[in-house]
Amino acid sequence: MTRVLQVSAELYPLLKTGGLADVAGALPAALAAAGAEPRLLVPGFPALRESLSKECAVAPVALPWSEGRAALLRGRLPGFELPVYVLDAPGLFDRPGNPYADANGMAYADNHRRFALLGLAAARLAEGVDGSWRPDIVHAHDWHAGLACAHVAASRARRRTEARTVFTVHNLAYQGLFPADYFCDLGLPPQHYAVEGLEFYGQVSFMKAGLHFADAITTVSPSYAREIQTPEQGCGLDGLLRHRAGVLHGILNGVDYGIWSPAHDRSIAQAYDVDRPEGKAACKATLQRECGLDVKPGAPLFGIVSRLTEQKGLPLVLEALNDLIDAGGQLVILGAGDARLEAAFVDAVARHPGQIARRTGMDEGLAHRIYAGSDVVLVPSRFEPCGLTQLYGLSYGALPLVHRVGGLRDTVVDTTLEDLAAGTATGFVFNAFTADAYRRALRRAFALWSRQEFWARVRGTAMRGHFGWDGAARRYVAVYEGLTSG
Ligand code: ADP
Ligand code: GLC
Repeated sequence: MTRVLQVSAELYPLLKTGGLADVAGALPAALAAAGAEPRLLVPGFPALRESLSKECAVAPVALPWSEGRAALLRGRLPGFELPVYVLDAPGLFDRPGNPYADANGMAYADNHRRFALLGLAAARLAEGVDGSWRPDIVHAHDWHAGLACAHVAASRARRRTEARTVFTVHNLAYQGLFPADYFCDLGLPPQHYAVEGLEFYGQVSFMKAGLHFADAITTVSPSYAREIQTPEQGCGLDGLLRHRAGVLHGILNGVDYGIWSPAHDRSIAQAYDVDRPEGKAACKATLQRECGLDVKPGAPLFGIVSRLTEQKGLPLVLEALNDLIDAGGQLVILGAGDARLEAAFVDAVARHPGQIARRTGMDEGLAHRIYAGSDVVLVPSRFEPCGLTQLYGLSYGALPLVHRVGGLRDTVVDTTLEDLAAGTATGFVFNAFTADAYRRALRRAFALWSRQEFWARVRGTAMRGHFGWDGAARRYVAVYEGLTSG
């Protein structure tokens, strides 16, 4: 059985800023079911450190700089059946709020140290500091864990471990870039600061460390695996990714149906499923009331649950807002982030009270109620590595309206006449990233809404789809076994 250490900065349900947490929370159980032996390593952020029970000290972790202390603890986290390692370093991690930035949204000045230490701790575990368990594979997620691949490579060169590494790109746009003179804090051999290493145009790149040093690379959908090898979406790393194409795999994320299913979701007004969809109407009315929208069963309700960033394509929604409202639709948006986007939605609510509603902050319960109460989820992202919100929309019968890109392309089937007739349509997909193409997809959604019998049929196909973690976990295990055999 392959012993695999999952290294992640976020973990649902304890600490979440986006889809990375959902993946890190769901993957371990799926890997165990697929025959691997996973454990987790997470930074000692308060939400994680304080939830650790049955803890024991494993070993101190020597810091590459002079002040402070760090230690690896092993224990249990609620909801997880596997042992979890927490990197306890209060000077680095014991800060309120977001894992990456302060209350004003400014990235912490010592992020390079915080996440370098995470990588170092992973390498110590690979070297066997926990006498009772040593991973065969270190599986690092996103730039925060990218240095694990570099540190394990350094340990391997010193013959302190034989572990192999897998690096998963959840979003190439966030790279963990730091000034070159921070390199001396990272605890790595000097030769690692090189083009054949983690140097990126005169800076240190944690993302590049993962891409260069990992034995295998995965990303979260087949389409994104292709897209990041192009200059348009490669964020300057497409050359390296093309060079490593032979070890790059696109493995689509899954849905944890134990959490994201309207049949047994405790946070929604009424349970429903594909055979008894009636409860969805009650969920819609409850959501309309909760958000101060007019309670109109006949108005198609569009929902958005999203980080408000450039990536998510929300300017298209704003540009075509009148089209949506004039056609009799309603919009509810839950999201936080970019101040200008937030202000634009505040303004939209003021102009269309009763038809547009907005909530900010992270609200897990409301997110569930939006998927359950909406008829459509809007995900018009400019780029989208995988995207989970469209998958949750499918599960709850809120038809996704998406840009044909990345994981959105791989998971939603447009309602063309052909796919409608074949019974394969599940949503609305537009090709060009333009307001015009988005508007035409909106019009297709309204056209289908006016034919409720067809709407119900497409919704049924959407809800019957299965994007479970089982298939993804089997593919990850195959990648691990490819690295450890022989
Ligand atoms: P990304 O990781 O790029 O943000 P995903 O679609 O993969 O996009 O995942 C987003 C996750 O974050 C989903 O679980 C979604 O429900 C959740 N989410 C986003 N914004 C909020 C919010 N304001 N409140 C609650 N959940 C949110
Ligand atoms: C990233 C991506 C998103 C993906 C998520 C989980 O945040 O933006 O598309 O679904 O990671 O892999």
